[in-house]
Amino acid sequence: MNKRKILVTSALPYANGSIHLGHLVEYIQTDIWVRFQKMRGHAVYYVCADDTHGTPIMLRAEKEGITPEALIARVHDEHYDDFTGFHIHFDNYYSTHSDETRHYSEVIYQKLKAAGLITVRGIEQLYDPQRNMFLPDRFVKGECPKCSAKDQYGDSCEVCGAAYTPTELKNPYSAVSGATPVKKSSEHYFFSLSDERCVDFLRRWTRAGHLQPEAANKMHEWLGDAGENKMSDWDISRDAPYFGFEIPDAPGKYFYVWLDAPIGYMGSFKHLCVRENIDFDAYWHRETETELYHFIGKDILYFHALFWPAMLEHSGYRTPTQIFAHGFLTVNGEKMSKSRGTFITAHSYLKQGLNPEWLRYYYAAKLNGSMEDIDLNLDDFIARVNSDLVGKFINIASRCAGFITKRFDGRLVDGEGYKALQQTVDERFSGWRPDAIEQAFEARDFSLAVRLIMKFADEANEMIHTMAPWEIAREAGRDADLQRTCSLGIQLFYLLARYLKPILPETIRQVECFLNCNKLIWPCLAANEPVSQLLLPAGHTIHAYQHLLTRIESKQIDALVAANKQSLSTEQSGATTTAKAVADDKPKTVAPIAGTITIDDFSKIDLRVAEIVNAEHVEGAEKLLKLTLDIGSEQRTVFAGIKSAYDPEQLKGRMTVMVANLAPRQMKFGLSEGMVVAAGNGGKELFILSPDTGAQPGMRVK
Ligand code: 2FM
Ligand code: ZN
Repeated sequence: MNKRKILVTSALPYANGSIHLGHLVEYIQTDIWVRFQKMRGHAVYYVCADDTHGTPIMLRAEKEGITPEALIARVHDEHYDDFTGFHIHFDNYYSTHSDETRHYSEVIYQKLKAAGLITVRGIEQLYDPQRNMFLPDRFVKGECPKCSAKDQYGDSCEVCGAAYTPTELKNPYSAVSGATPVKKSSEHYFFSLSDERCVDFLRRWTRAGHLQPEAANKMHEWLGDAGENKMSDWDISRDAPYFGFEIPDAPGKYFYVWLDAPIGYMGSFKHLCVRENIDFDAYWHRETETELYHFIGKDILYFHALFWPAMLEHSGYRTPTQIFAHGFLTVNGEKMSKSRGTFITAHSYLKQGLNPEWLRYYYAAKLNGSMEDIDLNLDDFIARVNSDLVGKFINIASRCAGFITKRFDGRLVDGEGYKALQQTVDERFSGWRPDAIEQAFEARDFSLAVRLIMKFADEANEMIHTMAPWEIAREAGRDADLQRTCSLGIQLFYLLARYLKPILPETIRQVECFLNCNKLIWPCLAANEPVSQLLLPAGHTIHAYQHLLTRIESKQIDALVAANKQSLSTEQSGATTTAKAVADDKPKTVAPIAGTITIDDFSKIDLRVAEIVNAEHVEGAEKLLKLTLDIGSEQRTVFAGIKSAYDPEQLKGRMTVMVANLAPRQMKFGLSEGMVVAAGNGGKELFILSPDTGAQPGMRVK
């Protein structure tokens, strides 16, 4: 066999949002493909990393009162756990905030500069005079210049769909501070994509089989026809304050996050190479015969199919073998929505105890290697997993294994019986060759692979149904028939398991234990070899059958949706999404600052550190929790409207801050003796305050 050397990546998720079912389409798709290639014996490395730079991450860290480094370290671990939970196996999961990524960013930048492809010019942008920072488009809000809808982002209107620049917004304000932005100019660094060398190269490259046909067409729309140069230079710098890598020789200027993000693929691979003694250059030099594949969502094609190959080409590196773009995910035919509970995080799916392989299977059944969107229909999800995986696949083992264990000590048929079994396989199941399934996996048409595999499973079930081992078992003197029939069922199950292993790695690991066999590899069959060559050997012994996969209960899905449901007031986004933490990228509206007060006004409010010594639900109250607060000198009862965001158990023993001199208020449920202060818009978005460690109950906040 010709052993291929393959490097595979998935898009790097932003380090400020949770992994959700939209992201998982891509990671599951890539993982299945990588596992398939590894099973065939090819040398494959699958690397990824968190995409850690940029303004949203800087501001998120600031909001949480931690450093960006602390934020990205925490999120890295969360992402890694989510991926592992879905059996996504990276050979390396790293961070773009690394020495390796910095190194290659600098090298590529210097080479582009040496090639005369970096230019510097001043541009005017909106600037927040209060926070002393330039505002990215998404951090400027105002009225849509077309339809006057309020609170629209600086790049496009969510009401009328108009696209514009932030300077066109009416009555703009900074989403960071609320201040009115001013126009200010500064020097920016540009990658000269409009240079003929880049345009000529991209025209050739995008037509040379590296892209899916629909992606190539899209790129050509962007590039324009020969003679008509539609490319603009790409702004690759951002001004301080920015969380990223400072540009060499340009103090106060940072590489724009999208410049170093794809270089993070190299950074992660380099880190792996050092750890495992792999020759990095063998994978990245121009004449390499190694293969490089990027799996991405169609929304980031522009970066991967134009900017990235142009950067690589003109800095002397190899370019990708292929870019594999997929479509967006909808749930029940609609955009994922927090209010409907369909914006489902990976963490909540796992926490609810749902089997990750259900989703892997369902996505596989839907993915066909094209850029079409895929729909997770929750009813269909339940029906399909239960009928295919449990009803068709697992059913074969559960119906045959018991007899083999109880009546034949776990031994499959041998001798003449095995020969007869081989003959049956070659006659009745001659179509079970791996070729068509293999081609489908290779082409990422997993949906075709699944259809073929399930057609085989139907054939196996039909055979078992006709032979009815449970009836043979009741008839005296038919032991040999029983052993042969059940052995045939187990042998067919074994073949199906080999085909399903890229999709169901954990179930098939358990199947390997049950069948007492070596790790399953991809079946290899020469044209003149019969299917029976692929079977377990004569007289092979298996272990007792133990339950391999349970059915999905619809109440589990109901609970999942309920756990992800958020009130409309907290919904930030119902966007269709792929590898994007859409909800978290959008800054929230900042309420205008209230009128000025004097220090005397402020000192009238007696704020105290309080320990929550007890917290409980209040019968009949929809929104309230009853808190007992210790403020040093006394204990107070406060009814706080925070039930939508807190579980009483979470609160017990916590420190917070209360208004201690608020007039007591008689409520329906009792007397409330003060108020706990909290931030947020209500619903799940409520945050009570905590003092720093060391503060004691009763201390005054001033
Ligand atoms: O769109 C996104 O979520 C980006 N974080 C993807 C980056 S992919 C690569 F270029 F790093
Ligand atoms: Zn509008």
